[in-house]
Amino acid sequence: MSLSPAFLDELRARTSLSALIGKTTKLQKAGREMRGCCPFHNEKTPSFYVNDDKGFYHCFGCSAHGDAIRWMTDQRGLPFIDAVKELAQAAGLEMPAQDRQSAEKAERAKGLHEVMADAAIWFTEQLNGLSGNDARALLDRRGISPETARTFGMGFAPDSRGRLKTALKDYGDPLLVEAGMLIQVEGKEPYDRFRGRLMIPIRDARGRTIAFGGRILDQGEPKYLNSPDTPLFDKGRTLYNLDRAAPAARKAGRVLVVEGYMDVIALSQAGIHEAVAPLGTALTEAQLERLWRMVDVPILCFDGDAAGQKAALRAAHRALPMLAPGRSLSFVTLPQGQDPDDLVKQGGPAAVEALLAKPEPLVERLWQSEVAAEPLDTPEQRAGLKRRLSDLANSIADPAVKSEYLAEFRRRADAQVTPQRKPFVPFQRGKQPWRPGPLPVTQDAKAVRAAGIDRVLAKAVLAGLIRHPAEIARHMEVLGSLKLADGALGRLFEAVVDVALEDRQLDSARLVTILARSGFEGIASDLLRADTMPYSFTRKAADTVRVREDLDEAIAILIARPEVDALLAEATSAMQARFTDEAFERQVALVREKQALELRLANLCQAHEDARLSGPEGN
Ligand code: UTP
Ligand code: MN
Repeated sequence: MSLSPAFLDELRARTSLSALIGKTTKLQKAGREMRGCCPFHNEKTPSFYVNDDKGFYHCFGCSAHGDAIRWMTDQRGLPFIDAVKELAQAAGLEMPAQDRQSAEKAERAKGLHEVMADAAIWFTEQLNGLSGNDARALLDRRGISPETARTFGMGFAPDSRGRLKTALKDYGDPLLVEAGMLIQVEGKEPYDRFRGRLMIPIRDARGRTIAFGGRILDQGEPKYLNSPDTPLFDKGRTLYNLDRAAPAARKAGRVLVVEGYMDVIALSQAGIHEAVAPLGTALTEAQLERLWRMVDVPILCFDGDAAGQKAALRAAHRALPMLAPGRSLSFVTLPQGQDPDDLVKQGGPAAVEALLAKPEPLVERLWQSEVAAEPLDTPEQRAGLKRRLSDLANSIADPAVKSEYLAEFRRRADAQVTPQRKPFVPFQRGKQPWRPGPLPVTQDAKAVRAAGIDRVLAKAVLAGLIRHPAEIARHMEVLGSLKLADGALGRLFEAVVDVALEDRQLDSARLVTILARSGFEGIASDLLRADTMPYSFTRKAADTVRVREDLDEAIAILIARPEVDALLAEATSAMQARFTDEAFERQVALVREKQALELRLANLCQAHEDARLSGPEGN
């Protein structure tokens, strides 16, 4: 529909805002304005003002602000178009004719909204019914109260391909497919998308269900399954829990961005209602804009591991061009291996508040990461730092903010008199691959290490990751340290990790498409075609558990080999310089270590043979 600005202005001019608001909110004259208790937040003394001349309302308590249309959407909860219709009718204005296409689109969207609402109701019934036992047990184990589950509209999708389809059959399959609730594969009957999952409705800013996230009850892949993008749902423009977090953020004066649904839900149960989460993707510009409409400086809470820190940096870079005076981001790094859900469970809201007390400003985050990125031992390296910092500052569009950043970075770089190098990874989590003992690292060893990544094995691992993108997330940490792999291979590793950071629900085909767009078309599809490699994870059909184990092992070996080689080279030259029993024993131990690694690698190929003999691919 084409609603021209002129029409909307006419509509505003013909609407008495105080009369409209006065229908539901008691207003009294106060000078040239009307005043009352704010309907957007709880208050006893009135701080809500309506100005008929200017045509807007404003609350000095919670900053709620808008015109007549905004009142209808935010206070009455109407969709924009319905708000305009209702106001137009009241004002005796004729709605402009819509073109047929957009009228059809509006009709269809209405149908989709009904599908989603009914699906949510049905999932909730299943959760509370007999078949919901396991799902309720999961909620119980995770400490989610029935009340919280109700607040978030949680439900359960039974492990069946047709129960939802039957329950909603009145809508007809095509609409259910368009809503993303059924999967349609060519030539087959459509079937339920969500099976055997705890269902979490994803709602739009007005609280209407537009999609679902489904969590597997036990182990399995993928852990979370989201609705596909539909006419109602654009995951890059949606923030989970926005409908509840927006009013809470106004009251609290802050908004938190966390990684997952469960984090949002656990925080809310602990009384922190102003948290939102993206939906398995890196934060987009649209999401940042949405956050800035709530508060000036949203707080991003990221994991302490390499993946989390990389995501934080990515958000920081993405925000730069969009900064404005007063408008920024801040960062909180969670303790090793914990997400907000764990944290609040262990330490209650106080533990979260303690972390939130001192968020790191954007400028600090950028500075730290650039200082840590490269050594700063030579004038050239220090000039490099200055160049990188000024590039960052120059990507800021707002001239005032840009010049502040340039000045601040210059000050900091000049003050950086004692160059030092900090390790990139702030925390290590989980089990580490083989760890070398502490030994001084010689130039020799460094050279071996840099050249030492086994290119053949590295290629196989890459092929495995491209084939099984769901595995990338778990290995982000170590994959980061593979940057040493030189040339095209190293860049491809980085690109793969980058793409996976952008989207947790990547499939192989999409990954290859995106890689192709970044200039890796040849390599990526070659690697996929390389069915001659002797590993389970490079094959097309393979058992997922085995793939996962083998890939873990291959990556561990890939990382450990150059380390062992480097140490061995070092031990050998130490022994040649001066023979001692100790040096000799160390060298022997390292030779054994190296042999053990070779054996593990050989076993990996063998493991594949075993799988082939007994596994599903048979011939
Ligand atoms: P996490 O793997 O950190 O899960 O994914 P979590 O939030 O801690 O979940 P629990 O506690 O194990 O239940 C964080 C977010 O990444 C997206 C989801 O949005 C999830 O909330 N994700 C994760 C996916 O989209 N797909 C996945 O397979 C995994
Ligand atoms: Mn979690």
